[in-house]
Amino acid sequence: MLEDLPHVRGRRVLVRTDFNVPLRWPDGPTGAATVADDFRIRAAMPTLDWLTGQGAAVTVATHLGRPQGEHDPLYDLAPVRDRLAELAPGVELLDNLRFDPGEKGNDPAFVDRLVDGFDCYVNDAFGVCHRSHASIVGPPARLPSAAGRLLAREVGALGGLLVHPARPFLAVVGGAKVTDKLGVLRSLLETVDRLIVGGGMAFTFLAAQGHSIGASLFDASAVATCRALLDEAGDRVLLPSDVVVRRTTADGDDRIEVVGTDVPEDATGLDIGPVSARAFAAAVATAETVFWNGPMGVFEDPRFAAGTYALAKAIAGSCGFSVVGGGDSVAALDQLGLAGRVGFVSTGGGASLELLEHGDLPGLVALRHAPNAPTAGR
Ligand code: 3PG
Ligand code: MG
Repeated sequence: MLEDLPHVRGRRVLVRTDFNVPLRWPDGPTGAATVADDFRIRAAMPTLDWLTGQGAAVTVATHLGRPQGEHDPLYDLAPVRDRLAELAPGVELLDNLRFDPGEKGNDPAFVDRLVDGFDCYVNDAFGVCHRSHASIVGPPARLPSAAGRLLAREVGALGGLLVHPARPFLAVVGGAKVTDKLGVLRSLLETVDRLIVGGGMAFTFLAAQGHSIGASLFDASAVATCRALLDEAGDRVLLPSDVVVRRTTADGDDRIEVVGTDVPEDATGLDIGPVSARAFAAAVATAETVFWNGPMGVFEDPRFAAGTYALAKAIAGSCGFSVVGGGDSVAALDQLGLAGRVGFVSTGGGASLELLEHGDLPGLVALRHAPNAPTAGR
C-alpha cells in the first residue's frame, strides 16, 4: 500500500506503470502517433494523484511495445508523454525502459542507474508483474517500496476469485494460443465449476476429441494435454458445438458457413457458431462469478465477431460478479460500450492469467521483500 511508504513530501518517487498502450496514426504512417486507448494511463491516476497530493516529485517509468534493447522510433513514448501531461501535469516520464537491454535482462547495473536519485519506488504496473524485468523486481531491493492503488485493486479483484468466489464460478477462456494457456486452464479447473473454451485454441481441444478441424488453428504439441484435461474435467468443460467457417471457392471468393463440430477439410474455423453462443451465454447467465479472458473468434473481422460480442453482452448483462482481462476481450467490450457494466476490468492479460495460475507474481514477491514491507522477512 502507498501508506507503507515513509513520508513522501519533497521526496523523489519512481513509479513503474504499464503504459503499454495501443497507438494510432491519424495523419497516416508518416505523421505523429497518438494514444488510441488511454485506459492504462487513466488507471494509474489514483496513484499519481495521491503521490502528487502528498507533495512528492513523481517520475513515471514504463515500457511500450517490444523494442529490442535499443532506441526504436516506433516505440517512442512521445504520444504517451503528451497524454500523461494532460492527465497529470508535472509528472515526468522516462524513456521507454525496453530501449535498454538491461530491462529485460534484469541487469543489476541497469537497476542501479534506474533508481539513482530516487527516494522511493511504487509499482503500479500490474500488466507487467509477471515479468522478472529490472524495473519490476529490482527497485524494491534498493528503495522503500509499495504497491500502487491499481496494483492493489487488481490483486484484490483477481485474488478474490481464488479465495471465496460466489458459485457457480464460470471461467471463459479464448484466444489463439493454446500452449500459453494450458497451465492456467489446469489451475482454473481446480477452482471453477465450469470452464468454457472458445476461440482459436478450442480447435486443438476439438481435435483432441477426435473431430476434424480442417485448416483451423491447431497445436499438435498440446493435443495430449488437452485430452488429459478433458478426461479429468469431464462435462465441466464446455466446447463449441458449432463453428463459423470460411471456405475459399474455386473462383477465389470467401464463403462463410456454419458447420457442426467437424470442420471440412477446405474450411477454417474463425468463430463459434450461434448455437454455441447461446449455450455459452446461458452458462454466463446462471453463474455468480465469471472470469473472461480471450475472444471467441477473429472478432476484428465483423464476419467473425458475433460469438465474442454475444459473450461480451451476456457478461455485461449478468447479475453475477464478472472480471475481464486481456486486451482483446476488453476491446470487444469497449466496442460495444459495455466495459462499464463489468464488475472489474483488468489492465493485465498475461499477468491476470499468471496470477490465477500461480497465485503470485514476481513483481508482488519483490514488493513483499522490500525493506519497508509490513510482511518483510516472513
Ligand atoms: C501487456 O501489454 O501485456 C503488458 O504491457 C506486458 O507486455 P509484454 O507482453 O510485451 O511483456
Ligand atoms: Mg501481452
